Amino acid sequence: MAESREQLPQEVLALIFRYLPLRDRAAAAGVCRAWAAAATCSTVWRDTNVSCDSEWEGMLPPYLSACLDHIHNLSLEFEPWRKPSRWAATKLLTALAGRAQGLRGLRLECRGEKPLFDAGSDVLDAVHAVCRAAPALRHLDLRRLPFTLDDALVLQTARGCPELRSLFLDNCTLVGSVGPDSVLELLAACRSLRILGLHLASLSRAALEALAAPDRAPFVLLALRCACPEDARAPALPDEAWAALRRRHPGLGVELELEPALSADTVRRILQPSVPVAALRLNLSGDTIGPMHFAAHHYAASLRTLEVRAAASAELDQALEKLAARCAGLREVHCFCVVRPAVLGAFLAHCPRLRSYTLKLTREPHPWRPTLVA
Ligand SMILES: *[C@@H]1O[C@H](CO)[C@@H](O)[C@H](O)[C@H]1NC(C)=O
Ligand SMILES: *[C@@H]1O[C@H](CO)[C@@H](O)[C@H](O)[C@H]1NC(C)=O
Ligand SMILES: *[C@@H]1O[C@H](CO)[C@@H](O)[C@H](O)[C@H]1NC(C)=O
Ligand SMILES: *[C@@H]1O[C@H](CO)[C@@H](O)[C@H](O)[C@H]1NC(C)=O
Repeated sequence: MAESREQLPQEVLALIFRYLPLRDRAAAAGVCRAWAAAATCSTVWRDTNVSCDSEWEGMLPPYLSACLDHIHNLSLEFEPWRKPSRWAATKLLTALAGRAQGLRGLRLECRGEKPLFDAGSDVLDAVHAVCRAAPALRHLDLRRLPFTLDDALVLQTARGCPELRSLFLDNCTLVGSVGPDSVLELLAACRSLRILGLHLASLSRAALEALAAPDRAPFVLLALRCACPEDARAPALPDEAWAALRRRHPGLGVELELEPALSADTVRRILQPSVPVAALRLNLSGDTIGPMHFAAHHYAASLRTLEVRAAASAELDQALEKLAARCAGLREVHCFCVVRPAVLGAFLAHCPRLRSYTLKLTREPHPWRPTLVA
């Protein structure tokens, strides 16, 4: 074994080591000189996925901490309710903050439940420290972090990360803490931002106008989550502002996620005809049929993904059939109630680009799996 191991060139070893968890990389580095050289080279560390599944994972022996310099993209998963996992994630982020000059992308994901009344300040402080020390950061994805993000983090990103291309802040139960003013500052500082995910309450007419300014880089995706009381109270974004944004960025797609906290009136206020809606996710406690008719009329040209959570009804089936007939560009449709066969027939007949659908004709045990179109 030892002989064949020595014959493997460093590049080949590095390609293998890339897929090892941190603890195994550390172990590999201890085997021999050739392996140490391979395990610490930049190929191995450039894109690093870490899943803090135990107290050992996520911890780096000090002699490997220089490897953090090589990381371009870090994707970090942890379980907030398990202390060792959380501790390891916080430690790793804190160590990274000391060596984040070259960091381009950071994505955090929490698995499992989070403890009640958990503000996540340990983890958020570490993220803050990374953003302060990563001037080359281009992608920051905090969608899977179930903690309330605040103005301080957004302002830190605005001041510390001028190269930012994509930022996702749209997942927390309570917002109100990322205000429209800090988003405006972010847009002013990060001129190359192309992708932004936010709660509706963080967006303003002024932000739409800033995005439509002539000197901005092409803006391609705005993901808007409308889920909490702050979103329901947010001032309306006028149709003219959407129309101007759309003229300025013809490639822009908007993803709208509407959750039960919204009243029918609020939904009507959010759905303006000129929003270039590419994805519509409806999970409303009130009327779902009205928004679907509206989408069939106004979003037919741009709609690519539709997701509906509602009770089965003949009206819903009709609305789905009408939508299928008008929205020929749909790639995905997922409806989480039983529909009549004509609904499935309508999507298959009218939407030639359909790739995946969840349209069940009989009740099935959950979770419902989508059907992929060959
Ligand atoms: C990291 O995860 C992403 C997606 O989750 C995957 O595309 C990529 O190949 C992974 N990289 C490594 C080195 O495992
Ligand atoms: C780093 O992550 C970003 C966004 O998650 C992605 O667009 C980019 O391709 C990744 N870079 C590499 C080298 O994988
Ligand atoms: C928000 O975070 C929770 C916990 O990490 C996750 O289960 C959920 O899918 C996230 N929601 C979105 C819209 O990403
Ligand atoms: C839809 O709303 C229900 C009720 O509030 C909630 O429990 C569920 O998680 C939501 N589903 C999605 C996918 O957001």
